[in-house]
Amino acid sequence: MTLSTQELLLSRIRDVADYPKPGVMFKDITPLLADPVAFTALTEAFTEFCVRHGATKIVGLEARGFILAAPVAVRAGMGFIPVRKAGKLPGATLSQAYELEYGTAEIEVHAEDLSAGDRVMVIDDVLATGGTAEASLELIRRAGAEVAGVAVLMELGFLGGRARLEPALAGAPLEAL
Ligand code: PRP
Repeated sequence: MTLSTQELLLSRIRDVADYPKPGVMFKDITPLLADPVAFTALTEAFTEFCVRHGATKIVGLEARGFILAAPVAVRAGMGFIPVRKAGKLPGATLSQAYELEYGTAEIEVHAEDLSAGDRVMVIDDVLATGGTAEASLELIRRAGAEVAGVAVLMELGFLGGRARLEPALAGAPLEAL
């Protein structure tokens, strides 16, 4: 990805202070989604990363990850697999709980969507603490599939997500565009 593409993407991410609660600087990607040039550039960059690392399926993490991952799957000609918050998928699921700052959360995937022979790339908007991405990698491995990597638009480096994710990545690449 060129510097100008990176600058374009950065210019379309809006910082919203004190949202959703005081002290939090929210990264709003809706200006990027509303700009077809930026959204296309982002899709191309994600697609290039997926192809370069030999992915065969794309996992999107609810909810903003769905928006970013789905066009990549179409562009790359790969299946799109939603990883959802617990209780939203109708079929037989694999579930994975993970720690939040206060309490726990749980994500799920349809068990039949991933299997041995799949190489799966996880796409999301933000890597923060890394808990969601880490749990998604657990799901992928428990389904018998291989992890091709994790690609996010933004990484909030001060939250240490990259270090948390490192053992679960087991050498697979993590890209923050
Ligand atoms: C946000 C973001 C990532 C996750 C990152 O999702 O879109 O999925 O948090 O945080 P972590 O690295 O600390 O796990 P959120 O749970 O707010 O869901 P949403 O996309 O449905 O708003």
